[in-house]
Amino acid sequence: MAGTFQNDYAVIDGIRVFWTTPPSTLVDMKTFEVREDDVFIVTFPKSGTHWLMEIVYLLLANGELSKIKRNMMEQGLEHTQCAGPSEVQTAKPGHKYMEEWESPRVMNSHLMLRFLPPQIWEKKAKVLYVARNPKDVVCSMYHFMYAILPEEQRDWSNFVKFFTAKEMIGGDWFTHVYEYWTQCKGRENFLFIKYEDLKKNHRGMVKQVAEFLGKNLSEEVIDKITSLTTIDAMRKTYDELEAEPGSNMRRTKAFGVLSFLNKGNVGSWKEQMSEEQSKLFDEKLAETFKDTDFTLECE
Ligand code: A3P
Repeated sequence: MAGTFQNDYAVIDGIRVFWTTPPSTLVDMKTFEVREDDVFIVTFPKSGTHWLMEIVYLLLANGELSKIKRNMMEQGLEHTQCAGPSEVQTAKPGHKYMEEWESPRVMNSHLMLRFLPPQIWEKKAKVLYVARNPKDVVCSMYHFMYAILPEEQRDWSNFVKFFTAKEMIGGDWFTHVYEYWTQCKGRENFLFIKYEDLKKNHRGMVKQVAEFLGKNLSEEVIDKITSLTTIDAMRKTYDELEAEPGSNMRRTKAFGVLSFLNKGNVGSWKEQMSEEQSKLFDEKLAETFKDTDFTLECE
């Protein structure tokens, strides 16, 4: 298979796991103490995780930007923040920080369904899953990672092959989305959201998320949260966070260097993808979801 970070993963339960998730973390997930008022934001990377995080943070803070507990941005459930693979065994993993957080906790994760803490379902913690059209996801991921990709992995067509292969690190998009759609949608503590719906009906979706979280807020506060979570408003917020004295760049950038915010459009793939590549995605989508009622808009 094409370029794939050969040395930086373990294979666990059939899934190639990136070095920032040591196998011991996946063992810890099995007994991770979940609280009833926990909120989990689960996504395949580059699907709008930070957009939904900001909406949820603001809903829980009744629309007050200054009341958001920004340290929650610094950790991912399964990730260990450290300089490189040689430090991952000794650095403190994300979930260990989360154990110390006050409630209500908002935790973000890219874990495949099989690795999520089982207590989520027993305790009925809230889970919000965001899915985005994989054509836009792969383009977003390519731009996001380009600066850290080794030279030999920068080839766009190889990147697309890598993305669509079962061996994709963290699990492939198709399996990720398929499992959450077919196994979780309809559970009372689970909300499946599409990035494209957030774009098309931003305010309506903010209201829907508020309802799901049991937050009864005035129309004015819903308006305020909607306007604070446009891409431009979030860019301003992130700039301000970065300008804070002693600011931790890991809140707004992966590894403190790769910006989580970019254009934030639907359909950017049309500028990047060949017809053949687009067809490959269409075929994989049709095949994966053939026995389901799953649909996606990407125009
Ligand atoms: P693009 O790279 O296509 O611009 P994640 O948070 O999962 O890493 O997802 C990142 C993607 O979500 C990026 O997409 C980013 O620009 C987009 N995004 C973040 N905030 C957004 C917002 N408020 N509105 C629209 N898109 C947003």
